[in-house]
Amino acid sequence: MAKEINRIGVFCSGGDAPGMNAAVRAVVRTAAYHDLHTYGIYNGYEGMINGDIHRLETNDVGNIIHRGGTILKTARSERFRTKEGRRMAHESLMAHDIDALVAIGGNGTLTGANLFEKEFNIPIIGLPGTIDNDLYGTDFTIGFDTAVNTAIEAVDKIRDTADSHNRLFFIEVMGRQSGYIALYTAVGSGAGSVLIPELSKDIEELMSFLKKMLKRKRLFGLVITAEGNENGSTQEVANMVSKKLTDYEVKVAVIGHLQRGGSPTAMDRMLASRTGHAAVEGLIKGQRNVMCGVHNNKVVFIPIADAIKKTKSIEQELLDLAELLSL
Ligand code: F6P
Repeated sequence: MAKEINRIGVFCSGGDAPGMNAAVRAVVRTAAYHDLHTYGIYNGYEGMINGDIHRLETNDVGNIIHRGGTILKTARSERFRTKEGRRMAHESLMAHDIDALVAIGGNGTLTGANLFEKEFNIPIIGLPGTIDNDLYGTDFTIGFDTAVNTAIEAVDKIRDTADSHNRLFFIEVMGRQSGYIALYTAVGSGAGSVLIPELSKDIEELMSFLKKMLKRKRLFGLVITAEGNENGSTQEVANMVSKKLTDYEVKVAVIGHLQRGGSPTAMDRMLASRTGHAAVEGLIKGQRNVMCGVHNNKVVFIPIADAIKKTKSIEQELLDLAELLSL
């Protein structure tokens, strides 16, 4: 028999992602529908340790579905990595009689949740809240679609000026360990080449692609790099290329945190609302230590251990597509 749940704590942790607010709203309103109480834990695991915990009523999550960032704030907590930090966090939860958690965040957040659930036997459901799209078991993560749309909008603008001046632009998008944003941005913006952490492409390969472009009288170029690509920083890669290829004037643009903000797209609002709702329903039915995602347009529950440890592979097909369509 699953333990009865009365009070759910919800928090966001790690890097923020557009759609987190829609997820919080879905959790609070689904809980209220079942006459359960929701407590917002502010500033992620840090706030849990500090007891920064407050009741959330349905009205508190009104007018937030369209807002980027997170009303609960977020943080990366070093203290939660320690046993003592986690003990303090558990004490705060007990002080508020919180008997289940919904954790919204990426790999680091869910790694912490996995450990916490095992140490203190508290039911936890994770929601994939990260722009990086690097969690296994869900087709997309909350915030990814918005981040890619933002990046594409930026690349479209750079394309105009690259074209006017016949320049080769290296455009860096986010993703220290994940190339999803770079890959989708490249295909969606029509950029020719993409450098990502998962699949190394050496500079020679890139050079031969750029030479092919030149042969076909492409007078300007767009190369998308993920911040974690293995060839060095985007500026270093651009320097290497500009030394070897003098036909182009080379420029660098870093899109940066612009990608993390802004109003969530319809796709992110849908994903957040569906998984936020399903997380509460899942807790009521006895699900625990799982991440709730969407796969093939169906809500699914994946063991958190799998979501964080198994690798979501990059589609080589999309990499090839970016190159093929831009020549
Ligand atoms: O995990 C999301 C993410 O935006 C990564 O793509 C990026 O590498 C990292 O966070 C940046 O983190 P911060 O905002 O702490 O510099």
